[in-house]
Amino acid sequence: MLDDVVELLRPSPGARFVDGTLGGGGHAEALLERGVQLDAFDRDESAIAAASARLGSYLEGGRLRVHRGAFADAIGALDAVEPGLPLDGILLDLGVSSPQLDRADRGFSFQSDGPVSMVMDQRDAPLSERLAGMDEASLARIIRDYGDEPNSRRVAQVILFGRPWAGTRALAEAVASVAAPTRGTHRATRTFQALRIWVNDELGQLDRALVDLPARLAPGGRFAVISFHSLEDRRVKQAFGALSGVGAPVDVYGHPVVTPEFRLVERKARKGEDRDPNPRARSARLRVLERIDPSQESA
Ligand SMILES: C[S@@+](CC[C@H](N)C(=O)[O-])C[C@H]1O[C@@H](n2cnc3c(N)ncnc32)[C@H](O)[C@@H]1O
Repeated sequence: MLDDVVELLRPSPGARFVDGTLGGGGHAEALLERGVQLDAFDRDESAIAAASARLGSYLEGGRLRVHRGAFADAIGALDAVEPGLPLDGILLDLGVSSPQLDRADRGFSFQSDGPVSMVMDQRDAPLSERLAGMDEASLARIIRDYGDEPNSRRVAQVILFGRPWAGTRALAEAVASVAAPTRGTHRATRTFQALRIWVNDELGQLDRALVDLPARLAPGGRFAVISFHSLEDRRVKQAFGALSGVGAPVDVYGHPVVTPEFRLVERKARKGEDRDPNPRARSARLRVLERIDPSQESA
């Protein structure tokens, strides 16, 4: 969705941007090529190293600052260097990156065997440690709520019974032996998604960012979020809708009682292409919020 992001975020020379999910640096590069001043965040030190190498000339030239940390803490980190900086564009491209999924030693994959880790930030406690202190009811709730797994209770039992796990493949096989059938995907897919969301507090991060980041937009500034599953997209839709006055009280003439400070750039999410060879990209949803510029409204 690179072209859509560039079209909707309208990067221009000198504009102040934040990329909260630097990853391999593809979006960051496209924004930097259009002249923005970029603060980029990622909590994965391998992503920071790879993207910093790719974008080294921008780092040296001073148009890029790279921060290792969570995007929910981005405003605090920015305030430590430039308090109160208003932002013209913000991007969150949620979830895991291809290098994280592909590298067995990160423990996200059941295709190849790796440690039971799944943490984006290598400083966080790995999944194996988090499971050590877990009870069945709480784990079942996570697997049901974040993975939509119908047999969540059985899956939780099997996971807890088999601790400590030698690796992701053994874990996936045990999960698959009791998980509900899936169409076209490995039976452990839903549970692995749920465990990943849990250990990385992905929804907590998103909820905080949806409150803190819009508040920092300059008039006319835009905030784009690409999400990959309905748990994320629902949150983005609701937060952006509430900020732009969707469902807010109206007077007898149908005008909002309180004038919203934000608007939706497009009412509907842009969707990934069905024919995209990358299955992850097919489920992408892009939503963009804009802080209304009162000087443009009255012009
Ligand atoms: C889908 S990839 C981003 C890809 C990137 N847009 C590109 O063009 O290469 C998501 C990245 O965001 C990072 N990430 C996910 N959640 C994060 C969070 N809460 N705070 C900081 N980084 C996060 C992951 O570590 C991963 O590197």
